[in-house]
Amino acid sequence: MSTDTASLYSRKNPFPAQHTVNRRLSGPSSQKETCHHEISLAGSGLSYEVGDSLGVFASNDPLLVQEIISMIGASGEEPVLGNDGKEKSLREALWKDYIITTPSKEFLAALVAKAGDAAQEVADLTSDATRKKELESYLWGREVIDFLLAHPRVQWTPEEFVKSLRKLQPRLYSIASSQKAVGEAVHLTIATVRYETFGRRRNGVASTFFADRTGPSVSVPVFVHTAKHFRLPEDTSTPVIMVGPGTGVAPFRAFLQERKAVGGGGKNWLFFGEQRRDSDFLYEAELEALQKEGVLTRLDVAFSRDQAAKVYVQHKMREASKELFAWLEAGAHFFVCGDGERMAKDVDAELHAIVERESHCTPEQAAEYVDHLKKTKRYKKDVY
Ligand SMILES: Cc1cc2nc3c(=O)[nH]c(=O)nc-3n(C[C@H](O)[C@H](O)[C@H](O)COP(=O)(O)OP(=O)(O)OC[C@H]3O[C@@H](n4cnc5c(N)ncnc54)[C@H](O)[C@@H]3O)c2cc1C
Ligand SMILES: NC(=O)c1ccc[n+]([C@@H]2O[C@H](COP(=O)([O-])OP(=O)(O)OC[C@H]3O[C@@H](n4cnc5c(N)ncnc54)[C@H](OP(=O)(O)O)[C@@H]3O)[C@@H](O)[C@H]2O)c1
Repeated sequence: MSTDTASLYSRKNPFPAQHTVNRRLSGPSSQKETCHHEISLAGSGLSYEVGDSLGVFASNDPLLVQEIISMIGASGEEPVLGNDGKEKSLREALWKDYIITTPSKEFLAALVAKAGDAAQEVADLTSDATRKKELESYLWGREVIDFLLAHPRVQWTPEEFVKSLRKLQPRLYSIASSQKAVGEAVHLTIATVRYETFGRRRNGVASTFFADRTGPSVSVPVFVHTAKHFRLPEDTSTPVIMVGPGTGVAPFRAFLQERKAVGGGGKNWLFFGEQRRDSDFLYEAELEALQKEGVLTRLDVAFSRDQAAKVYVQHKMREASKELFAWLEAGAHFFVCGDGERMAKDVDAELHAIVERESHCTPEQAAEYVDHLKKTKRYKKDVY
């Protein structure tokens, strides 16, 4: 994958975009906070294809920056080196340049060297390569600020503190719009990451940047991340099956806008899943309108928490086993987007099971069939 547009702007030179719309998609009773965001690309010359992602250089939470500055006994005005090699204030560097949430190896090593016996547990875990898993679970939910609060007597100079941090990386978001429908804009569907660990509220850097910290005076540095592996079939009459629970629906909203704009008559089938129909049916009205217009040929939904037993997208696939296999036999392309840890694996297993059941073949033959779909670029995933 690469970044590739005819614009002046790229990952190395991101476009300072305006965030124009932030609309909550999850209802008030939802356990989630998923939002629809719109970004203006006006004046950038940036263009994208459906299937691409938007790269975003978000900045850290200024309140966390201030807390860290206070904990290391600095004012924030001290000059330090930014990750671009330029001198800037400690506050600016912590805000925009460095990871100040997840502790790096270098930070832990510096802490151990400074705190001595007081950081014995960290010293033991980091010095023994066989305890990697233990270290991971110890670090889960712990951030840099927790270590600073736990070791208030440790002295850091601003320069050595910054040197122990790693570079803040951009986040990718699946583009949820087609330029044929929205012009010089990009739509995104973002699940805001908020959770509590060790008695402290935590915020995902980029998702809460979008949810809480942008506005007319804040520019959002963005670039287009090309995803050549995740393209609609060139032949617009080819049917597509899209499996996109949660924010995985984002690129499929873009696909449907594109298919509506170009016509071509290809059938479109979407499997969507979320927790509850009442509060989590993302883009419900739009999807229903697309169904009425005949763009979305079929919509199967799985609301996991509306009944005692979980119902997931793969269960809906199983219920529609015969038709799904018939679509594949008719040349459909099969797309999956969203959670790569569990969902995409379970959907893959169900796809194998459907092929085996419907074509009365062995598991090995089903695997060959699915492999063939992959090799012929008819089985495409964008998972995270
Ligand atoms: C190609 C691609 C497309 C993507 N598309 C989308 C999209 O369309 N929509 C979308 O919302 N996301 C999408 N993502 C994910 C997105 O890039 C970010 O990873 C996500 O928004 C979180 O980023 P953040 O900066 O808000 O959180 P971060 O600051 O990165 O924090 C997330 C980290 O917090 C920790 N964490 C989270 N929950 C807990 C918990 N309960 N307990 C302890 N620790 C926890 C984990 O270490 C996790 O990795 C995509 C990713 C890729 C690679
Ligand atoms: N890197 C990050 O920090 C970060 C940030 C945001 C999102 N994410 C990840 O991105 C993915 C998408 O998140 P999201 O909030 O949009 O939705 P999600 O967590 O994937 O949830 C969407 C729906 O999928 C269901 N689901 C859970 N396990 C499943 C499985 N094995 N197979 C099929 N469906 C399953 C959920 O049900 P239940 O919830 O009822 O089980 C829910 O109904 C998730 O992996 C999430 O963890 C990561």
